[in-house]
Order: sequence, then C-alpha cells, then structure tokens
Amino acid sequence: MPTPAEPRREVTLDRQRMRELEDFRYALDQSAIVAATDVTGAIRFANDKFCEISGYTREELLGQDHRLINSAYHPKSYIRELWRTIASGQMWRGELRNRAKNGTFYWVDTMIVPFLDEQGKPHQYVAIRYDITARKLAEQQLVDQASLARLGEMAAVVAHEVRNPLAGLRGALQILSQRLAGERAEHAVIVEMIKRLDTLNDRVTDLLRYAKPRTPQLGRVRLRTLVESTVALLHRDPVLAAVEVVVEGADVPAYGDVELLREVILNLLLNAGQAMEGHGVVRVTIEGGAMATVRVRDHGPGIPTGVQAKLFEPFFTTKRAGTGLGLAIVRRLLELQHGTVTFESSSSQGTHVLVTLPLDVGGGRSSGGQ
Ligand SMILES: Nc1ncnc2c1ncn2[C@@H]1O[C@H](COP(=O)(O)OP(=O)(O)O)[C@@H](O)[C@H]1O
Ligand SMILES: [Mg+2]
Repeated sequence: MPTPAEPRREVTLDRQRMRELEDFRYALDQSAIVAATDVTGAIRFANDKFCEISGYTREELLGQDHRLINSAYHPKSYIRELWRTIASGQMWRGELRNRAKNGTFYWVDTMIVPFLDEQGKPHQYVAIRYDITARKLAEQQLVDQASLARLGEMAAVVAHEVRNPLAGLRGALQILSQRLAGERAEHAVIVEMIKRLDTLNDRVTDLLRYAKPRTPQLGRVRLRTLVESTVALLHRDPVLAAVEVVVEGADVPAYGDVELLREVILNLLLNAGQAMEGHGVVRVTIEGGAMATVRVRDHGPGIPTGVQAKLFEPFFTTKRAGTGLGLAIVRRLLELQHGTVTFESSSSQGTHVLVTLPLDVGGGRSSGGQ
C-alpha cells in the first residue's frame, strides 16, 4: 500500500537528478568547447568556450554550419569520412584545425556524438572539443627542428663537396680570363661563367646560412648604426643602387649578434628594394620601449593575401631568380636571438615588416664590430 511519503521521495530524486545533470553540464561547459547541430549541420547550440575560441558571438554562430570555422586544411576525404561515420550513427573522434573569426588557426581534439531517433536515425549531433593548439604547435616545432637538423647535415656536405670545387673552377677561370684579355668574345664568355659560379656559390651560402646558422654571439648592437652601415651593402647591387633608404629614430641598443642582425636587415632591405623594382624610398624606423623594434616600409605592390602564409617557408619565391631563402633566414636568425618578425601588407600601402628584439639593458657587453 502506498504511503504518503513515497511520491515526495520521487520528487526529491528527480530534483537531485536534475541537479546532477546540471552539475555535469556545468563541468562540461567549463572544460570543453561544446556545440550541437541538427542533421544538416546547422549550429543549434554553442557554449561560451566555443564563442571564446572562435571569436564569433553566439548570434553569429547559431544557424550557420561548421563551414564558418573550416580552415580548408584537411583533405576532403577526411571530412567525408567524418560525416559518413556520424550519419551512420557512430561516434567520430579526431583532430581538426579550425579558423577563428580573426583569421588565426586553432586545433581541437573533437568528439562528435550522434543522437538517434526511434528509427535509429540521427536527429542531432553534439560536438565536444578540447583546445590542443599549444600541443600541435609544439609538435610542429619538433618536426621542423628534426627536418632542419637533417637539412643542416645535408648543407654541410653540399658546402664541402660543391663549394671547394667551385672555388677551384673560379680560380682557373680567372687565370684564363687574364690570358684571354685580348680576345674580346672569349673573354666575355669567361667573365659570364665566373658570374654564374658566383651566383651558384651565393645560393649554397644562403642554404648553409639557413640550415646551419652559427651560434649567435650576443651583445650590445646599436640598431641605427647597424642599419646605416648596412645600406652600403644594399647599394652594391647595381639594380638597387638608386633605392633611397631613409633611417629614422634613435640608436637603440638591442641585445643580439651584430653580424646575424646585419644579415636580417640586408635581406629585408633587398626585398623592399626589389619590390619597388629599384626605384623609390625605403623607410626604416627604429624605436625603443619594452622591446627594440625596427620597421622596414616600402611602397611596392604589397604581398598578395594568397601567398602571405607561405612567405617564411624556405624556397618559397615569386621571383624569377629568387632563392626563397631570404625571409626563412630572417626568421631563423631572429628566433636564435629571441626576436620576432611580422609583416603587414596591402596593395595601396606597400609592405611593412616589423622586427622586435630584446633591449640590451646591462651596459658594457658588446658583440664585436661596433
Ligand atoms: N617587401 C616585399 N614586398 C612584396 N613582396 C615581398 C616582400 N618581401 C618578400 N616578398 C615576397 O616574399 C617572397 C619570399 O621572399 P624571400 O624569402 O626573401 O625570397 P626571395 O627574395 O628570394 O624571393 C618573395 O618572392 C616575394 O614574393
Ligand atoms: Mg629576398
């Protein structure tokens, strides 16, 4: 026989279950990025963490499908397999790279759970994701380092096997060119051969600089002095002899390696001068503050958005005779000196490259040459 106490107990239990469910949901919301979509993939629910990481407001997300955050990184087959799995009622788990509203990428470990109706067909999908961007970046750095180490070994072999014979050939050609000084046609051919050998040698040197930079000798580097003395190197290239370089700002002391920094500045000036096809003004501005900064601005055509992501990759070039190593070297050398390089570019404003370096705060230390 039922006692009056029984229904009351049922109610308390229900409340307790509700509380438990809410607690679970709270815990999930605190730890994970959660979204729910209908079968067509339209977003019906997004928690705060989803808004936070994607940079979109809830209003912007609701009703959209996940193409909004698709970074076009994964092969089509990977995404097809994801859909095939969840549409057949099974859970999918994997790693996805997404794009936030501001264009930056983030990585998420993703679990998508299909919820089925009475007929066993999915009527909604719930995606639970965890931010793994930091881990992915660290993994990529390890891969980069391993391939750089291999490239470094290869470059050392190339340097030995190629540069020495090149130097020998060049020496022999120079003797020939002196002997043939009277024969104009032959002499011109020899001079051309020497030029080609020099270009080849420069490329091998560039490859070595990228793959096996020397250990930086850190010390005080006065940036304005450095930039001003580097301009002369730029003007050695006859194509860029007419480029005007205006240097502004104080002689800020950075903490770096003077010769490696000279290489950084020279590469940036070369790119700026080449972008303007040898005519116009490159403005270099130096500033102090929390960091030392060097800004290099040109009025060239800018960098098309389609290629911006590839700029720092080794061997990426849009120039007929480019090596594509300039910016890769710039970034590698700056990393070794705890510096950074970023750029802004538009077709109307040209390209602005920003280099940051640590300031030299302790007086007295000096890396040779200045
Ligand atoms: N200041 C600039 N203006 C426009 N494009 C630039 C600029 N600097 C670099 N780039 C682009 O980046 C590419 C890679 O530059 P870099 O690594 O120095 O190699 P390279 O100069 O040999 O091509 C260039 O080919 C060019 O397309
Ligand atoms: Mg270059």
